[in-house]
Amino acid sequence: MDFVKLEVKGGIAIVTLDRQAKLNALNGMVLNELEETFQELQGNDEVRVIIVTGAGEKSFVAGADIGQFPSMSPEDAHAFAKRGQTVFSLIESSTKPVLAAINGFALGGGCELALSCHLRFASENALFGQPEVKLGVIAGYGGTQRLPRLIGRGRALDLLLSGRMIKADEALQMGLVNGVFPQIELLSKVEEYAEMLMTQGPQAQALTIRAVYRGVETTLSKGLEEEAAAFRDVFETEDRIEGATAFLERRPAKFKNR
Ligand code: COA
Repeated sequence: MDFVKLEVKGGIAIVTLDRQAKLNALNGMVLNELEETFQELQGNDEVRVIIVTGAGEKSFVAGADIGQFPSMSPEDAHAFAKRGQTVFSLIESSTKPVLAAINGFALGGGCELALSCHLRFASENALFGQPEVKLGVIAGYGGTQRLPRLIGRGRALDLLLSGRMIKADEALQMGLVNGVFPQIELLSKVEEYAEMLMTQGPQAQALTIRAVYRGVETTLSKGLEEEAAAFRDVFETEDRIEGATAFLERRPAKFKNR
């Protein structure tokens, strides 16, 4: 692959977007490679947690590739938005936790890529924004939908209508990111977090992701039904027996992802 690098070590997959000459901006090829990578990771039993990051110290992803905009018709624009949405929804639907390690600019499609991950961690120099309005367009890779769901409508509209950039500390305050680390430590801290996640029940995590994402799309009563169904499903796993047994035997659980 030319623009998406994959490294798998000890159960953790690190997916690095690497198009540094354009600050890792997303073009069609990057999206294709991202899609292929996530399809492969979903079927790879060795992988338990996925980290998405950008190459270099300056940028996570500086957005969709603006170079394509001038020649796009409204129909092209619709297909363009749908394509990005499809790839980002694939990432969000991962049953393995996906962590964004945001190492610099997370603008437009870059912020939306981070939003499609389950958790977000940023370096102190990271900058976030949905600057599409500055170009006379709108967010099209899920920003108008995932941002308000994550940080609330008022805060989301502030970012989406002003196009202003915010620093990592403000992103943390808004709940846009889960943690902020010095640039040099970002990846190792996110890997540490991933390792901690790997000590927990994988099937339980997958079912938790499913219940949370289905739940926010529906009413409380239907969400509670989703939760009860997931609670039933988790009792079909071997790991739940190991979890309870390990607790009673006062030892760490050894989950088998079964
Ligand atoms: N699409 C295409 N190319 C992009 C890009 C994008 N979203 N973001 C950056 N680039 C390219 C620049 O055109 C430049 O290419 P060039 O060297 O061939 O001219 C290269 O990446 C470096 O960017 P540059 O603007 O020179 O870096 P900077 O440090 O001065 O500014 C940003 C960095 C991120 C503030 C600026 O590049 C920017 O505003 N990018 C667009 C962000 C945006 O609006 N994203 C949402 C798109 S919908």
